[in-house]
Amino acid sequence: MIPQSFVQDLLARVDIADVIDPLVPLKRAGSNLVACCPFHSEKSPSFTVSPSKQFYHCFGCGAHGSAVGFLMEHLGLGFVDAVKELAGRAGMVVPEVQFTPDAAATRSRVVGLLPVMEHALQYYKQALKRSSRAIDYLRGRGLSGEIAARYAVGYAPEGWQNLASVFDHYDNHDLAEAGLVIDSDAGKRYDRFRDRIMFPISDAQGRVIGFGGRVLDSGEPKYLNSPETPLFEKGREVYGLFQARQGIRAAGRVVVVEGYMDVVALAQFGIQYAVATLGTATTPTHIQKLLRLTDEIVFCFDGDSAGRRAAWRALENSLGQIKDGKQIKFLFLPDGEDPDSYVRQHGSERFAGMLVESAEPLSVFALRELTSRVDMATPEGKAKFLQDAKPLLAQVAAPMLGLMLRKRFAEVAGLGEAEALREFQLRRAVEGRTRLPNSPVLRSPFRRVLEILAHRPQLATRFAKNVTDVTEFKLEGIDLIEISRAELAFFEAILPALLSRSDRINIAEEFRGTALEAVAQEVERATLDWEETGLDESALQQELEGALRAVRDQIRKARQKQLMETLSERRWTQEEKDLYRRLQQPVG
Ligand code: UTP
Ligand code: MN
Repeated sequence: MIPQSFVQDLLARVDIADVIDPLVPLKRAGSNLVACCPFHSEKSPSFTVSPSKQFYHCFGCGAHGSAVGFLMEHLGLGFVDAVKELAGRAGMVVPEVQFTPDAAATRSRVVGLLPVMEHALQYYKQALKRSSRAIDYLRGRGLSGEIAARYAVGYAPEGWQNLASVFDHYDNHDLAEAGLVIDSDAGKRYDRFRDRIMFPISDAQGRVIGFGGRVLDSGEPKYLNSPETPLFEKGREVYGLFQARQGIRAAGRVVVVEGYMDVVALAQFGIQYAVATLGTATTPTHIQKLLRLTDEIVFCFDGDSAGRRAAWRALENSLGQIKDGKQIKFLFLPDGEDPDSYVRQHGSERFAGMLVESAEPLSVFALRELTSRVDMATPEGKAKFLQDAKPLLAQVAAPMLGLMLRKRFAEVAGLGEAEALREFQLRRAVEGRTRLPNSPVLRSPFRRVLEILAHRPQLATRFAKNVTDVTEFKLEGIDLIEISRAELAFFEAILPALLSRSDRINIAEEFRGTALEAVAQEVERATLDWEETGLDESALQQELEGALRAVRDQIRKARQKQLMETLSERRWTQEEKDLYRRLQQPVG
């Protein structure tokens, strides 16, 4: 809801060094500033702040970002709060008026719906006290009154229109919008939750934004959840986070379980750092949210095949979020158990012990799962294993973890070092760590184009002058050469941004929260290398032209090769012959 242009203006006004230095004292090192990284433990400083480019980067753990990103990571602020904080220091006002009409409408709706939810919550809580049937059910499941109160557990009584006597205006649109009632096709309105134990779902500030309601007997569905509303988005929220915040800090980890009852039972037994997803797969947003609070996530799933499938989805959605220095682990419970039944039967010490001793690191689980799908004793099996592993590895956002995974997987598949380099581009990952400062010229030509543009945005104007260059990139065979899809998409997205804004833009910030964030961070980081080369504007321009020529040459060769392949099937047409002749000319 904050306009991207405001964030860029703000970043242009503040100095990242002034933001970081009071929190993490910086020392000068050449044209940059350095410190021991606040995001992982280290003895020699690899945390680097670039005053000229206004970003920080840790060469140890890969932490990377703008001044806004730093406040988010270091103070645990959300994006909006970090922007507000920074704007306050710079004497700028965050332009609330610039909410798009839609966003503004959503906002006022959100604000209007909160009291409705709160009112319903109070009613459900009171109703529980009056229902011996509901109380007996909860007692029967071993729930203490204290914990029921802590989680504000309630009860929605039997009957179709109880809320009519709770709200002054049962026909108010807000009730439907909040998901508390349903309007039938026949135009009749009725309560969504009837004869169910009610688990309120709250946001980070403890305000109720949704409910999960459980049947008391064996009816279907077992759990009925609030629909998606302006307040409530399942893919963003986790159950129990508000109550668990302190516990997560104290334990240094969060446990993610599957059910409401699991969270509540664990809390009752003293495990105060459990949260649950809301009957949906774990999303990248969930993971991002939790990693902002703590360095370790343990996913706890049933040991059955459904649990393993759910765990695998959680793993896939974690890869793009994990940072070096953070841990994601997987714990599989014995068959037929869930955390609720386990902790009641074996106690919290055994459960906590299992979290530490039996939870598998992401790398172990990934390897076990991938190898279990194939016969690793055969070459075919190993080939399939490598094929399955590749797309996963490509998503790993943490450079060191990515490197370790690649090495380990190559080893398991019996690849020699040279083969591993080729298969997994091990070299690139290694280079990222140990490359000599002045060697960005060794990277692939297309990569060099991206990096030089990020380093000297003014050079992007050469594309404006000659639009054919851009179209050639897009249309004429760029897809034939080996560049990553992310790099190409990044190029197409960054070019207009650079062209439309002559002043500096903070590259990674521009792509915050998008699929291109990782590549944007890498490219931005690489500008440090270009800075160290000390090349001046005209030398950089020559580098850029050279890199572009090299890309076009790669394309030319790829098209040539493609054409040659058709020759084995049929004769060339005259056009193809002409094309071949043209493709033999090196690009000028
Ligand atoms: P489970 O079926 O494992 O239930 O669903 P549970 O949490 O162990 O509940 P109890 O112990 O039988 O009371 C796990 C989670 O999946 C979602 C809920 O969030 C539930 O807590 N779920 C399950 C639904 O949303 N709808 C359903 O019908 C069932
Ligand atoms: Mn259960």
